[in-house]
Amino acid sequence: MGSVRLTGKGRRWLLKGHRWIYRDDIAAGEAQPGELIPVEDPNGNPLGWGLYSSASKIAVRLVTPDAAQPNRDFWAGRVRRAISARERMRLLSPEGACRLIAGDADGLPGWIVDLYGRVAVASSSIQGSDRMRDFLLELLVEELPFELDAIVERSDASVRRLEELPMRVELLQGEFTSPLVVEEPGLSYEVDVYEGHKTGHYLDQRDNRMRAAERAEGRRVLDAFCYDGLFGVRAALAGAKSVVCVDQSAPSGERVLRNAERNGVSDLVSFERANCMQDLRRRAEAGEQYGLVVLDPPAFARNKREREGAERGYVELNRRAIDLVEPGGTLVSASCSYNVKSENFVHYIAKAALAAGREVFLEELRGASPDHPHLLHLPETNYLKCAFLRVE
Ligand SMILES: C[S@@+](CC[C@H](N)C(=O)[O-])C[C@H]1O[C@@H](n2cnc3c(N)ncnc32)[C@H](O)[C@@H]1O
Repeated sequence: MGSVRLTGKGRRWLLKGHRWIYRDDIAAGEAQPGELIPVEDPNGNPLGWGLYSSASKIAVRLVTPDAAQPNRDFWAGRVRRAISARERMRLLSPEGACRLIAGDADGLPGWIVDLYGRVAVASSSIQGSDRMRDFLLELLVEELPFELDAIVERSDASVRRLEELPMRVELLQGEFTSPLVVEEPGLSYEVDVYEGHKTGHYLDQRDNRMRAAERAEGRRVLDAFCYDGLFGVRAALAGAKSVVCVDQSAPSGERVLRNAERNGVSDLVSFERANCMQDLRRRAEAGEQYGLVVLDPPAFARNKREREGAERGYVELNRRAIDLVEPGGTLVSASCSYNVKSENFVHYIAKAALAAGREVFLEELRGASPDHPHLLHLPETNYLKCAFLRVE
């Protein structure tokens, strides 16, 4: 079995509660790709156990600070803990959808499981979770309080390249009819688990969509970067006058229209395929005004180097969106870039408001739905910001 011994800096970092050990903080030792190994301080004292990566800058992800080696009961306990947290959130049901296991945030590094009804979609992003895949799936089946129809693997996130892992998308067990249809309270929608983004759907925005819909009654709504249009469909269900959904992806557009039809709001919801950067400017130049604008772009800063460009992007985009909001209307502006902190994001929106010459009030700053927990000692698990703003 491999093991690693940390530098003094690495030890201090870990004792502050952080869970990721960077390669520079390892003084000696090595291990097999994905191996579960003991971590020691510079004097050989135990600091816990972690999953080793032979490729990533994050050399070890700590699983436990205990000296005892994690055994089957330990891993079953981690899976059980994640499941019972979703049960307490009232999100666990064989009809609905939730993020059942949120990787590092649930103490299961690199391992995500989204549940769409009775279909589990698992995504592994590091060598450790790849090595443990079959074992973790066995525990999942044992611990879930209901039977699954199928398990799909969607291990194709670009971060796998940093771990030198191949992309894998396959049906692992059982069968189901595609596309899946999921029922949330008051909304049903389809999920394409093979071709859709992430595991097929953006579960992290579930609660923000419901909150945004509360501001939709009697208003014209623009859902920019709409994906499957669920901010828009929720708004239409809540009494919006009309909803325009915009995204550059054609398959998303087809799902928007089918989702609108499934929920009986086809007459209110339309889809336009366009690049939102140009589309928002065109709408502003045409003098269009909306009572609710939703802005949910992809991450602009995927790493620290991209931060500067991201600032320009967020300021520019929010400026265009603010131009489109009628006085007293709402802008819901999201950023899923972990590398842009909440206070910076709000600062970018403030710059946009100044450039637009409008007074803008931050009514609420929200995060991801609670099934995407933020582990306090791992800031990387806090990535989504969703600002609810009144524009005068
Ligand atoms: C974070 S997702 C939006 C999620 C969505 N709001 C929801 O609630 O499910 C970002 C979306 O932006 C789209 N997109 C990315 N760049 C774009 C661009 N320049 N113009 C239009 N759409 C874009 C992607 O196709 C993707 O659907």
